[in-house]
Amino acid sequence: MHQDIVKVLYSKEEIEAHVRKMGAQIAKDYQGEDLILVAVLRGAVMFLADLARAIDGPIEMDFMAVSSYGSSAKSSGVVRIIKDLDTDIKGRNVLIAEDIVDSGLTLKYLLKNLASRQPKSLEVASLLIKEGVQQVNIDCKYPGLVVPNEFVVGYGLDYGERYRNLPYVGILDSTVYKK
Ligand code: IMP
Repeated sequence: MHQDIVKVLYSKEEIEAHVRKMGAQIAKDYQGEDLILVAVLRGAVMFLADLARAIDGPIEMDFMAVSSYGSSAKSSGVVRIIKDLDTDIKGRNVLIAEDIVDSGLTLKYLLKNLASRQPKSLEVASLLIKEGVQQVNIDCKYPGLVVPNEFVVGYGLDYGERYRNLPYVGILDSTVYKK
């Protein structure tokens, strides 16, 4: 275990099992339909890569980047599109792959923005959900693993661009971001 991690919440194996199950459900739900997976950079990259391979069926992938935390551990609530989709999603089935739903503000903004482009359907799959901290109601069709209200890193999630490559999700030692 990395020295800055105080507790592993989900092991590599537990994440794999959850993503595999989610992928199988998505493949079933979208059978015979076209599907674009949209990942929010950069935190959702690992999740998207594994989720895409867990879906047995034709899919496309596209990416968006929005501003979120910078290197701070607190949500600013400010959402700005830094990189937009390359695909025209009008009339297409879109599934957003998110790393974590914390306040929900980022997703709320994204959903509103993407809905205005008139997709055929628009749903959310999130790897993680932070327990009891959502400031807005998010309808997540494929909910993720529940984490406590702590700052977590690994499997794509970072603090100041570090820890994304940890194969597990764990709680970051608060002394790292309170320094
Ligand atoms: P929200 O808008 O508060 O739901 O969170 C937006 C983004 O902040 C997420 O997609 C993550 O990239 C990031 N984030 C929120 N909580 C954490 C955390 O515990 N660790 C790392 N990143 C986080």
